[in-house]
Amino acid sequence: MPEATVRCAFITGGSSGIGLAVAKELVRRKADVLLIARDRNRLEQAVRVLTPERVNASGRIELQPRVRTLSLDVGNPEQVKEHLLRAVQEFGEPDFLLNCAGEAFPDYFDRIPDSLFEQTISVHLRGTWYVTKTLLPYLKKNQGIIVNVSSLAGLVGVFGYTAYSAAKAGVIGFSEALRSELVSEGVQIAVLCPPDTDTPGFEKENRRKPPETKAISANAGVLRPETVAEELFRGLSKGKFMIIPGFQARFTAWVARHMPIMVRWVMDRTVRNCRKQIQSK
Ligand SMILES: NC(=O)c1ccc[n+]([C@@H]2O[C@H](COP(=O)([O-])OP(=O)(O)OC[C@H]3O[C@@H](n4cnc5c(N)ncnc54)[C@H](OP(=O)(O)O)[C@@H]3O)[C@@H](O)[C@H]2O)c1
Repeated sequence: MPEATVRCAFITGGSSGIGLAVAKELVRRKADVLLIARDRNRLEQAVRVLTPERVNASGRIELQPRVRTLSLDVGNPEQVKEHLLRAVQEFGEPDFLLNCAGEAFPDYFDRIPDSLFEQTISVHLRGTWYVTKTLLPYLKKNQGIIVNVSSLAGLVGVFGYTAYSAAKAGVIGFSEALRSELVSEGVQIAVLCPPDTDTPGFEKENRRKPPETKAISANAGVLRPETVAEELFRGLSKGKFMIIPGFQARFTAWVARHMPIMVRWVMDRTVRNCRKQIQSK
């Protein structure tokens, strides 16, 4: 996909972090962008973040590209259908969809309340399903692109992430099946699997991580959301299905696929050492 071929992008989770970084890149490429999330204040703040990208040489905000917002919960099928169909009428038919809305609540499996498990499945898996289903006719008509955001934790089950890894592995399975159904219809499907990325969501998540999860994360670097967005567009332009930003994450995913025992050995050893340290205090 050469630069600037996206005309109209719908981005769930577009008010923050990775979704906002992708929105910024799309606005830079002159695509209209609809930012979708629940909190209206954060959506308005995100529009302000994107404003400098739309200011012309004489200091005026350009009418094109347009940036608009839509407040909804992606896990609520009635809201998704009603509001998204209205948005298509008012804003335009999308030729790019990024399913990026998400949140994680890491903890020990037996401490995660069922309500948080449901919430995790709802935003990542049901949200991706409902939003894609509602917008697919337009994406087919416009020979568009669908990017579903999973995670490195969807490829490698990580301590403390039972609910999240289950949801993100589900996103990968969904995307693989959907790709094979749509490949002959001219719709490009990709799944983005970022490693730890420095976003407001990641910061919030860090406060809940068990020490063992923190010890595992400490072995990995943290990417900038802008780097994730750059690698996404590079991967899309090469027609890649699985896009894993960052060399270290790509290496981990490769080892997990070809020598899973190695990844388990490293993670189990990290957990054992962490527990020894806690006990010795
Ligand atoms: N940051 C990382 O380390 C990392 C790594 C791998 C994968 N990811 C994935 O990347 C995606 C973006 O994460 P991020 O780190 O950029 O998080 P973030 O900064 O917290 O942004 C999350 C976005 O999703 C929206 N959102 C959350 N729940 C929603 C819901 N039910 N309905 C609609 N919108 C909702 C949030 O807005 P509201 O709260 O206002 O709705 C916000 O716009 C997520 O799917 C995450 O799992 C992140």
